[in-house]
Amino acid sequence: MIILKNERDLEAMRPACAVAGKVLDDVAAFIKPGMATKEVDEFAASRMKQYGAKSAFLGYRKYPCHICISVNEQVVHGLAGARQLRFGDIVSLDVGVIYNGFIGDTARTVPVGGCGVLAQKLMDVSEKALHEGIAQAVPGKRIVDISRAIQSHVEGNGFSVVREFVGHGVGRSMHEEPQIPNFVDGKPSPKLRPGMTLAIEPMVNAGLPGVNILKDGWTVVTQDGSLSAHFEHTVLITESEPEILTWVGRMPSKLKAL
Ligand code: MF3
Ligand code: CO
Ligand code: CO
Repeated sequence: MIILKNERDLEAMRPACAVAGKVLDDVAAFIKPGMATKEVDEFAASRMKQYGAKSAFLGYRKYPCHICISVNEQVVHGLAGARQLRFGDIVSLDVGVIYNGFIGDTARTVPVGGCGVLAQKLMDVSEKALHEGIAQAVPGKRIVDISRAIQSHVEGNGFSVVREFVGHGVGRSMHEEPQIPNFVDGKPSPKLRPGMTLAIEPMVNAGLPGVNILKDGWTVVTQDGSLSAHFEHTVLITESEPEILTWVGRMPSKLKAL
């Protein structure tokens, strides 16, 4: 069952998504070469606290960190630890917060200091694929229209989409129906309706689409060792244009002062 949000739900959920976007923005600006990923996670935790929010990830299926930090060939769900970020790395930051009883979920891949041209192209194509997907998020279209737009942009640029992990509905719970694959899977696909809130999140590999999970039980890596990027927004289906709830410019006035 797909949970539609009414205006009262959205009054609570919009700020939750705004906080997630703000924390992600803060963390992206914070990372520097030489920093341990543990420090990055601690910084994210302190920002969440400052904004009166909590991590939606910490403790979720025993996940041990506040955010997901995935470096280079790591796709998603990377764990913070002693590893130091190096100039030229690309790091995927995924932030989920609970605020007002709702969850905002958003991710972005950023270079550490700077990066090579392939890494930059991978990030650009992945972000554009997210935007192409969001452009399909209008009533009357189906989930598969989002999936198709993402897949064709990624594959048209010579990269590949991960199959094993998908986008999802989001609201009072982090993972609600429907699933949002980043590829056309041929299964029946729900029609988009106003009030749906969707986390759209292409995971894009520079090489082959295959992934493995490391022995830590969490970290997803590319099988071929190629770089990977991840961009995600929580998006509201409206009667007309999609509303990107985790867009960073969207700040409740109470938080603007911080
Ligand atoms: N934020 C991830 C997503 O986009 C889920 C993280 S699960 C966790 O769906 F366990 F790592 F927190
Ligand atoms: Co996420
Ligand atoms: Co998500």
